[in-house]
Formats: sequence, structure tokens, C-alpha cells
Amino acid sequence: MQSADAIGSPAKAHALTWEQRTGGRAEIVQSDFGRLFRDYMAALQAKQPAYDVLLFPASWAADFYPYLAEMPDEYRDSDAFDDIHPAYRERLMTWDGKWIAATVDGDLFSGYYRKDLFSDPNNQAAFRTRYGYELFPPDTWSQYRDIAEFFNGRNSPDGGLIYGTAEAFARDGKQFWTVFSRASAYTNHPDFPGAQFFDPDTMRAQIDNPGWLRAVREHKEILAFSPPGALQFGIVEARDAFLDGHTAMALDWGDTAQLTEDPARSKVAGKVGYFVLPGTTRVWDSRLWRWDDRDSVYKAPFLAFGGWMAGVPKHSRHQQAAWDYIMWLSSPENSLRDVVTSGTGINPYRFTHFTNIDAWTKALSISAASEYLGMVRASLDSPHAAMDLRIPGFYRYTEVLEEELTRILRGDSEVDAAMHRAAAAWNSITDELGHAQQLAAYRTEMALPKEPGGPRPGTHAHKVRYVIGFSQATTTEPWRLLFNKELRAEAARHPEVKLVVRDAMDSVRRQVVDMEDLIARRVDAILVSPKVTDELTAPVSKAFSLGIPVFVLDRDVANDRYTQYIGGDNREIGRAAGQRAVQLLGGEGLAEGNVIEIWGGMASSPAADRHSGFVEVVQREPGVKIINAPQDGDWKQDLAYGIMAEALDAHPHIDLVYAHNDPMAYGAYLAARDVGREEDIAFLGIDGIPAEGVKWVQEGILDATFLYKTPGEEGIRQALRFLRGEHVQKRLMLPTSTIDKTNAAKILSRYAAE
Ligand code: FRU
Repeated sequence: MQSADAIGSPAKAHALTWEQRTGGRAEIVQSDFGRLFRDYMAALQAKQPAYDVLLFPASWAADFYPYLAEMPDEYRDSDAFDDIHPAYRERLMTWDGKWIAATVDGDLFSGYYRKDLFSDPNNQAAFRTRYGYELFPPDTWSQYRDIAEFFNGRNSPDGGLIYGTAEAFARDGKQFWTVFSRASAYTNHPDFPGAQFFDPDTMRAQIDNPGWLRAVREHKEILAFSPPGALQFGIVEARDAFLDGHTAMALDWGDTAQLTEDPARSKVAGKVGYFVLPGTTRVWDSRLWRWDDRDSVYKAPFLAFGGWMAGVPKHSRHQQAAWDYIMWLSSPENSLRDVVTSGTGINPYRFTHFTNIDAWTKALSISAASEYLGMVRASLDSPHAAMDLRIPGFYRYTEVLEEELTRILRGDSEVDAAMHRAAAAWNSITDELGHAQQLAAYRTEMALPKEPGGPRPGTHAHKVRYVIGFSQATTTEPWRLLFNKELRAEAARHPEVKLVVRDAMDSVRRQVVDMEDLIARRVDAILVSPKVTDELTAPVSKAFSLGIPVFVLDRDVANDRYTQYIGGDNREIGRAAGQRAVQLLGGEGLAEGNVIEIWGGMASSPAADRHSGFVEVVQREPGVKIINAPQDGDWKQDLAYGIMAEALDAHPHIDLVYAHNDPMAYGAYLAARDVGREEDIAFLGIDGIPAEGVKWVQEGILDATFLYKTPGEEGIRQALRFLRGEHVQKRLMLPTSTIDKTNAAKILSRYAAE
């Protein structure tokens, strides 16, 4: 591992506790960052590697992966594994469909700003007068530039002058990451992913396209709004300038958040806010070779560096101990302690790092912690979060780039000419390392299909393990319990499936949150049975737009932005109930009678369809009247009891009750029985599960019920078919049947035998 405190110190500390815990022995070997790559390469290629665990930057994965062992299944089948944010887990821990390393640190670039300066009314007024818009943390790179210009050279509240912003400009000072972070918004066109560094179809370098040229020009322009001597700033000096209170903003990694609040290091404690890397309203489309003007600000938060990873050489003779140490080092508990401790170099990468906000109060105030974590989460959750370059030859590419950037910043060369030279140098490096090999590596790292148009590596069709999220509306009714039981049983038949079940407990708001959670986890597929149509349409559409296959079960959404809908044909069921009612009330053309209809959840599609199917049939009979106003029974027996009790009060003459499900039909029956009128009324329900509807038919309580099969089993089956690359139909209707005295006993005995 590297000898610096960052990463080095927590790795050492956890090695000690690992030894105490396991009785094993861990020998720590440290070397300077500059020597690390060569050292590791030698170890990886050796028959008896010098190290059993390597801690390395994410960008070396392509060079290392042929020599790394695959992570054992048991570690991938754990909650600790699912706890890792998918931006890291799915994008960085795999290479070419193999799990080759574990993220032990999260990294991304973001912005820092001085809240005290931004909230000063004098500054706000002066800014508005000069730029014609309000002073806020920047949303676009142009605003970032304006704000830097505005503050540059103003008087600082603590005396002296304040400068615009702090960025790294010096060679070997990690400067190119600032440029990458800018180019990210300009060159990651959402319709043509993976085009930031190279054209992913041809491997032609992109660093001299107009998007990049703009990024480089703006980076250079910022120099004028930076402290004196900024040309020599590496990231360390830039960070210090901000911590010393010399600049209004800074671009940096996450470690700085804790440092700003550490009084020993910082003069700006309590005054710092954070912003997601700014965006743009114009994105360069390198496929159509033109600027694309957008209606809203587009951001592509850049995962600069991508964090540290831990891997195990294939030839290590201590595979199990090695992985055990890695899991210990990065366990939710140990890593939580590290991320909240200043100086460990470890930044948040697990869901539990974000949710355990109290742990952060060691380093940050609660409001700073929630603001900081909110910013990191927003960056990681962005569907456009962009990956750093991670192909063989990373160092050679960045070296020549830095050479040219230095010429540009010193004024020794024009931007365009220098970047054309850098691009030409990139193309030669690619050719030297092997065009085909580099192209393949680049497509792999950008999670693109091997061939343009083919299946994506590491995703659906290639995976052997699927995490399927299921958002259930409620489990208060037996039909829902059966639904869950059937769904779980089917999932259990497929060992490659891991289920994550969320129960919204009848709350729409909660179900929306559940969906957001499943989306954030980037599960492989989502099954959802929405409580209501309207409010759940947006999260379903969102998941679908993000490329997560969504299977809508039983209750429908309002548009067709989902993979498949599975449910019974509720309109057909409504019609069948209508025919049954007509029959019971005297037959076609002769039927006569007063009907009470008890609705299920009115904001759900099954209720609407069960109503319209029923009405379609009974309205042909002039003698049949639905005598009550539509009332929402929300599928609940007790609510239906209340509705029916009122109806019995109001109407001396009721012939038939049509309830949208069996529990409500039963509730209505109980209300009638309580006033001694159950014999005068026929009851129809829907669902037909053995424990309820079928039994009640058998007992003569209901005249009939209509089978509404749960989509639990079929949901899992269809999702798996889809994940394996098979076609699924857009709408799958489950069959229904009428259950009455003629077949109830048979169904019950068949069920008992199962
Ligand atoms: C309609 C429905 C009913 C069932 C109820 C349970 O969406 O499936 O058939 O009784 O929901 O919540």
C-alpha cells in the first residue's frame, strides 16, 4: 500500500485489529506512490507474489485485472456488498463482467464555497447589479467563472484580499483532474455515453474536440481569478489557500470537507458549503459533431480518481485470509469510522455512510454533515455521474496531457494548437499499446457493449446474480400475503436471485420513497405493485428511464414507461361479475333489482376497471340499478362494513352487493347479517383465494367470486426471462375463472392436498 497516511494509516490500523480478531498475521508493506505501480505489477506477475492484498487506485484496474483473483461469491452475497453505492460497486469493482476488486474508498470531485461571503447582502446586491442574476453556488461553469471573477480582489472580512477560487494548476499536482471535471459536463453527451476521452467506436482521442477546448480555455481563464502564484498550485496548495480563507470557492475531493471544520487546519470552520460540480446548457455531441443546446442545466458529476480498491493476486496462496482482511477493512462498521475521521483519506462509498449521519458529528456539525452528504449522494446518484479514465497506459496519457496544459497555462502555446498536439500524442500512445486492445478496454470501462450495439458487459444478460427489488403496496390483506408468499417461493427456486422487499404499509408516500430507494440501489429489476396509479407513475417512469427494467404488477400506472405489466384482466372480471348479477336478478332482458357497489381503492386501476366492466353489462338491463354513490372501500373489510351499514339504513330494498374484492364482500355480508338482512341479498366478490373467497362461497356467504391470481410467481419468472435477454410481452394478462358452489369444494380440496 502507499506510505502516505491517507489509506495507509487506516489499512494499518485495521490490520492490527484483524490480527487480534482472527489470530492471523498481516504484514504491511508500504511504498511511495511513485513506485507503487511498478511494485504491484511485479508482484502480480510473480508466481509467488510478494503481497496477498494490494490497495490500488481504481484507474489501474485495466492493467491489473488479468492477474487478479475473482472475489469469492460469499462476499457478493452479503448485505455489506449490497451496501456499497452502485456507482462504485457496479462500475468500478468489475472488469469485463468479473468482480476483481473491492472499493475501500469513494472519490469524486466537487465544489466548496464560503457561505459567509455568499450570504452577505452587500455581496448579493453588488453581484446582482453586475451580472444580472442572483448570487448562489454555481449551477453552471459560466456562473462559476462569474462568481470567481466577482470575488477576486475584494476585501476579505478578516482583512486582506480574497480571491475567486482555488484549483490545481501545477504539473504533478493532480491538475488534470480539474480539467477532466470540467470536460465532464461538456463532453459526456447523455445520448452517446462514454465519449469523454475517446470516441468509443473508433478510439480517436477526443481531448481536442470543441467541448474539451472550451473546458481547457475556462480552466486557463480561472487562473486570472486565483490567488497570486496559483500557477504553482498543486491540489495541496489549492486546498490550503481555501482553508486559509484566501478564496471564495475551491474544486477538490471530499477529504477537504472534514479539514474545513478542523480548527487546527482551517480558518473557515463553520463557513463552508458544498456544491455538485457545475453543469452546462450546451453539451458537445461528438457523434453528430455539434453542440447540443439543452433546456435545462446538464451536469455530469465526475468521479475523479474513483477511489482506492483492494484486490488479491491470482497466485496468492492466502486467498481466503486476503479477502477476509479486505472485508474487515471495508466492513460497514470499520469504514464508517474511517470516513468520519479526518486524515484517513477514506471518503463515503456505502449507503450506511450516508444514513448514519450521527457518526459524522465527530467531524462536522449536523447541518454541515447533512449538506455535505447530500451533495455527495446527489453526485453519485446522478444518472450522468461520469467515470475517470481507467485504461492501460493511464499515466502515459495523462503525462503528455499535463505537458501541454502547462504550456497553455504559461502562455507558451495557444489552447487549440496545444490540445491538437496532445490528442495526436494520445492517438500514438493508443496505437503503440495496441489499438484493438485499447478500444476494448475503453469500451469495458465505460460499460459499453463489446461491439457497438451488443449486450453491455457486467449488466443484465451477462450477470449470474440478480438483485430484484419488490415494492409492495401493503400486506394488510390476505391476498397481499399470498402474493408475497408466492413471489418469495418463486424467487427461492432461483438461487441466483436476491430479493429486496419493501412494504409501503398502505402509504403512497412511503411507496414513493421505497421506489427511490430501489432505484438508488440500482437493483437489476424492480417489481412494483402500486398502491395508486398517479403518484406511482413518476417513480416507475424514472426507474425505466434509468434503464432499470420495471415490472408493474396487479395495479397499473398512467403511461407505458415500464417493461411489462402483469395482472388479471380486471375489466373482463367486472364483466363476468355483471353477467352473474344479471343472471341472479332474473336473467338477460328480465333482470331487475337494486345493487350496491363497493369500490376498492378508487385511485387504483383495478377498481376503475372492475367498475367499468360491471357497468358495461348491467346498464343493458333497464331494471337493474346501482343505488349508492361511488364510495371508496380501499379493499378493506371494515370500511366495506361501514359503507354497507349506511346503505342498509338508507335503502329498505337491496338485492345484490358487488364488492371489488372478497374481504369487502364479506364486510358487507357481516353488516347485513347484523341487521338480519343477509338472506335477502346476494354477495359477489373478487380474488378467490382459498382462505377467504373460496371458503365463503363454499359456506354460502358469497354467491360467487372471480379468481384474481396474484402476479407474484409470474413477476419473478418474467423478470428473469427479461434479465436473461429474452423478449417479454408488454402486457401479460393472467387468466380468471368463476368460483361458485359448483367448483368451490373441488378447489378447496385440491388446495388442501398441495
Ligand atoms: C386490487 C387488489 C385486489 C386485492 C387487493 C389487495 O389491486 O389486488 O384484488 O384484494 O388489491 O390489496
